[in-house]
Amino acid sequence: MDSATIIPDIKGADYENNKLDPFRGVVASMVAEFFGKTPEQVFGVLEVPRSPELVGYITLAVPRLRVQGNPAQLAQQWIEKFVPNEYIIDVSQASHYLNFKYNHPLLTKTLLKHIYEKKETYGTNQSGAGKTCLIDFSSPNMAKPFHAGHLRSTIIGNFVRHVHAANGWKTIGMNYLGDWGKQYGLLAIGFEKFGSEEELLKHPIKHLYDVYVKINAEIEKDPNVDEQARAYFKKMETGDESALALWRKFKDLSIERYKDTYARLNVEFDVYSGESQISNESMSRALEILKEKNISTESNGAIIVDLSQYKSDVAMIQKNDGTTLYITRDIGAAMERYEKYKFDAMYYVVASQQDLHFKQLFKILELMGFDWVDRCKHINFGLVNGMSTRKGTAVFLDDILEQTKESMHEVMKQNEKKYAQIDNPEYVADVIGISAVMIQDMSAKRIRNYTFNWTRMFSFEGDTGPYLQYAHARLCSIERNCGFELNPEIDFTFLKEKPAIELIDMIAQYPDVVKTALQTLEPCTVVTYAMKLSHHVSVTLESLWVMGAERHLAEARLFMYWATRITLGNALKLLGLKPLERM
Ligand code: ARG
Repeated sequence: MDSATIIPDIKGADYENNKLDPFRGVVASMVAEFFGKTPEQVFGVLEVPRSPELVGYITLAVPRLRVQGNPAQLAQQWIEKFVPNEYIIDVSQASHYLNFKYNHPLLTKTLLKHIYEKKETYGTNQSGAGKTCLIDFSSPNMAKPFHAGHLRSTIIGNFVRHVHAANGWKTIGMNYLGDWGKQYGLLAIGFEKFGSEEELLKHPIKHLYDVYVKINAEIEKDPNVDEQARAYFKKMETGDESALALWRKFKDLSIERYKDTYARLNVEFDVYSGESQISNESMSRALEILKEKNISTESNGAIIVDLSQYKSDVAMIQKNDGTTLYITRDIGAAMERYEKYKFDAMYYVVASQQDLHFKQLFKILELMGFDWVDRCKHINFGLVNGMSTRKGTAVFLDDILEQTKESMHEVMKQNEKKYAQIDNPEYVADVIGISAVMIQDMSAKRIRNYTFNWTRMFSFEGDTGPYLQYAHARLCSIERNCGFELNPEIDFTFLKEKPAIELIDMIAQYPDVVKTALQTLEPCTVVTYAMKLSHHVSVTLESLWVMGAERHLAEARLFMYWATRITLGNALKLLGLKPLERM
């Protein structure tokens, strides 16, 4: 072996899990010395070219190395010395770019065997081993609508969680319910007046919302109600068991119902916490620290923190009647969470309407002297317009999901022949419908607002959830119908047509996608990848058949499609979808 094919130890390279990395490593070791850089520096700037003519290449943009001299000339000089090796078989130059052609059959063989070993874990890595992150997501408010912001938080938060797990982190999914405050005293008063035990058991979320709306209307007519609510909440705050029992019942029943909906969305939580769980001790401790450090001041009996010198507003942390606020509970919550979990990262997945809140929260924690505040991050996102059912303005997530399922079911029925082959159309309609909602949500950068589009998201063409599910199911059907088993001992060199090479390259890039997603925490990077892969599956299937091809070709292609299905399935699961095998 000549020295060029030594694969150097490089921080950031993952030779075990990323089968493009050995090729990159060799490129890095080949050019580093010539350009006066370390292999690591070269490795960090290598790119996968976008241009279709450069499929099967790794690119180095010489200027990215920040070398002295003319990059194009240097590239030219380097090329003259090039000797092909087992990994890099050719090099070409285009002005200041060097394009390294790698040994594709070698990649194909190592990659496909690797996927065969890894299966469901293909694409994952262990870079986060030993680290823990806490993700506060979904976090709806009891007796109030589960609105689009909560749906987005659920979808994005779940993605953030999967991405961390795929990068080796330990994750804690936490649902921090809005379940405390005077309004829950009000709800109890309302329940005494308008509540029905039977309705509560049947439809807890809807019923509590009804009661809440009614009692709020009542306040306008009868000012005593407000006073009663205050008194009731006071009892709750002082731990009066009879007052707490009713509230706890509301809460338990609501959580049970939420869990059903979350299961439909393929989401689970490790912890159901909530504003009510934050202890008075931690909040008093917070108030003491703030006072001691001269961060807070008194203003008309209330306690405030003036953040104007940090280009922020005044934050009130205790009202003049001594009660705490949302932000006070968040300060206490953060302290308790750090004590309990010693997290390496904590994410709050909440709409950008709360940008100010989190800015203030983090500033206050910083002023209090908690250096772990650097580990906290607000993952924000834009608004959804028009998320209501077609009939009206229902605000319940379940209604949205029901309508989604029905609409999807209608779309499916239009293809009678196919419809007849599906065993459980209701279930399939539900899964595709939910995929439609989720993919629509994750298709653009998080911060962008979007409009809920009932027609477009259900289409099987275009960049939609159904389209991705269809590509996956189609790959599954090849496996079902080919009539032979997957055989890892076959000759992979038969996979040499251009579409095959392109497809293999794409699946080889999946570990990069998982890694990038951890940096950006943007689901759209994964959606874009899954779309590209799915488009390319249909292009490849036009010319490279399994059925009807000679046996050796059929076996090699089956293997390629199987590996593609694993990769696409893993990408869909990373996004939180349930990949369908038939539809
Ligand atoms: N319940 C809040 C709302 O609906 C979201 C809570 C987010 N988490 C937090 N720690 N503040 O607006």
